[in-house]
Amino acid sequence: AAKNSEQQVGIVGSGLIGHSFAMIYAASGYRVRIYDIKPEQVQHALSTIDEQLEHLAKNGLLRGKLTVKEQRSLITGTNDLAECVKDAFFIQECVYEDLDLKRGVHAKIDGLCKDDVIIASSASALIPSLISQNLKHKNRFIVCHPTNPPFYAPLVEVIPAPWTDPDVVVTTKQLLAETGQVPVIVKKEIDGFVLNRIQYSIIGECWRLYEEGVMSVEDIDKVMSEGLGRRYAFMGPLETAYLNADGMYNYGDKYKEMIYRVQCTFGAPRKMEGPTLDKIQNELTSRIPLDQLNERRKWRDIRLASLQKLKNDLDKK
Ligand code: NAI
Repeated sequence: AAKNSEQQVGIVGSGLIGHSFAMIYAASGYRVRIYDIKPEQVQHALSTIDEQLEHLAKNGLLRGKLTVKEQRSLITGTNDLAECVKDAFFIQECVYEDLDLKRGVHAKIDGLCKDDVIIASSASALIPSLISQNLKHKNRFIVCHPTNPPFYAPLVEVIPAPWTDPDVVVTTKQLLAETGQVPVIVKKEIDGFVLNRIQYSIIGECWRLYEEGVMSVEDIDKVMSEGLGRRYAFMGPLETAYLNADGMYNYGDKYKEMIYRVQCTFGAPRKMEGPTLDKIQNELTSRIPLDQLNERRKWRDIRLASLQKLKNDLDKK
């Protein structure tokens, strides 16, 4: 960690994802410079980080070996993009999901950064070649798509463009693993990458089941949190299937007809709008009023952090 403090990570855009990445890198001892087009947003991010570090420490969930004070002292804000990126060995861009905006921001970074830098974008769905095609440093560009909230949900999808240098992929993977995140490589550019493709297929089916009156919102959510999700926190759907029979051939033999039959009833995608949207919103607000979202997010984050701790403890044994 002492050596890491000689290396700087630049965070461009310090909203939800930006401040979370700042905490992740600081917990591993890196110096972190956060920048935002709105100076007040940098201040907001710094105070959010203060609050969260205290909260984590109080609950025994602080990451890494450094104290709150040590972690906090590694993070500084700036209103100057150059100061954020010129000495950085790794840049994590976290501005809004808008192609023109991201292209503009990256054009500026391109003119300020070191040649051997790694420039990562938090893009949720914009493919890396679209963002980086006109950059001088396009071979140093990669997408690192985190899972919200990144500090508590460690998966990061790493997506190189066709022209990304292989060492960028290797180093990015190592860096993320060192910080405690879990990188997975998306080998081909594809709309929605992998996490959102899977997530959207789940949301799509939940929507359909609700719309067709099969289940309430609360019960649909329980199917995940008390059923599928219990397993998925430890193993994915493929290993789940493998274990649910005597291996994959056996699973296929037993279930392929049923799975195929049910899949054939899924039908075309539906847009999240209209009366179904109103009803789902109403069911949720009656349980979790809109003015209590922050409370509920804290509730969620403590549980996610506790699950992380449990997983770490189980894997240590
Ligand atoms: P956010 O709205 O919380 O933060 C975006 C920040 O970018 C704001 O503080 C804004 O002032 C700043 N910004 C806008 N233009 C800028 C510029 N030219 N230079 C510097 N800063 C600028 O957004 P959030 O949620 O943090 O999203 C950031 C990226 O992360 C997006 O690409 C998003 O798709 C992606 N992402 C978001 C997830 C989420 O659940 N929120 C999950 C995974 C990825």
